[in-house]
Amino acid sequence: MSKKKVGGLPPGMEAGSMSRILTIANQKGGVGKTTTAVNLAASLAAAERRTLLIDVDPQGNAGSALGIRRDDSDRTVYEVLLDGLPLKDAVRKTELKFLDLVPASKHLVGAELELAEIDGREARLKRAVDAIAGEYEYVIIDCPPSLGLLTLNGLVAAQGVVIPLQCEYYALEGLADVLKTIELVRAAANPGLKVDGIVLTMYSANNLANQVADEIRSTFKSQVFKTVIPRNVRLSEAPSHGKPILLYDVTSKGCQCYLELAREVTRRLGAGGRA
Ligand SMILES: Nc1ncnc2c1ncn2[C@@H]1O[C@H](COP(=O)(O)OP(=O)(O)OP(=O)(O)O)[C@@H](O)[C@H]1O
Ligand SMILES: [Mg+2]
Repeated sequence: MSKKKVGGLPPGMEAGSMSRILTIANQKGGVGKTTTAVNLAASLAAAERRTLLIDVDPQGNAGSALGIRRDDSDRTVYEVLLDGLPLKDAVRKTELKFLDLVPASKHLVGAELELAEIDGREARLKRAVDAIAGEYEYVIIDCPPSLGLLTLNGLVAAQGVVIPLQCEYYALEGLADVLKTIELVRAAANPGLKVDGIVLTMYSANNLANQVADEIRSTFKSQVFKTVIPRNVRLSEAPSHGKPILLYDVTSKGCQCYLELAREVTRRLGAGGRA
């Protein structure tokens, strides 16, 4: 993270600005959480919004999608959660000037069990994020495909949740589980937690997908982002090159859609009073 200050604040920040902390969650596997977390974060960074991406998934996919291999050093999100390492000590720079990353480590696999043993287990990430959040306009947290303690830490740390949803038959049932968990987190630990939006991912036009998309829109109305992420092969290739889509193929439909999603997020949520 650059220490260079502009008018006493890090570049990209303005006086009185606050961070927007978004958690990307859905307990269903492979619905586009990481693709959304990485490319939304990169798109916000491309618009010179200082952004921090935190990978709380033991799979470490968010880091590797940015060319940072799952890190088994002692400066990862594991140490932040379990040992109280300050988040700033686990921050890595990425190829994008305005995007930083806190990587996962293989030790996170056991973290659910280890966290269960300690006090304030669901608020460990919140404590760490609160200490540095003012440095970033957006903090984006990529969760694993479960509703365990790691995702819970993501939900307690956030102001809002973005839920990626694939337009398929069981999508609505899965969504009900995430919404129930959000409700429980609101009641127990984070009353201000909002659903910032549902983003339809991996969309390919066919009758079933259209039917599911219509049903989701008629149920959740303006909570569903207007931007739909299409199934796009360039999006699936980019992680193996260790690049967000905008450094891999800026002309692709997938890239243009994530840039549009970032604009929608910025308009909808605002940050630092410059919505
Ligand atoms: N819009 C898209 N078009 C084509 N492929 C996609 C798209 N979005 C994601 N993929 C691919 O689908 C797979 C699953 O996506 P991703 O890893 O983002 O899901 P996830 O919800 O994070 O998965 P997990 O639950 O395992 O963390 C990946 O191989 C990814 O590259
Ligand atoms: Mg993932």
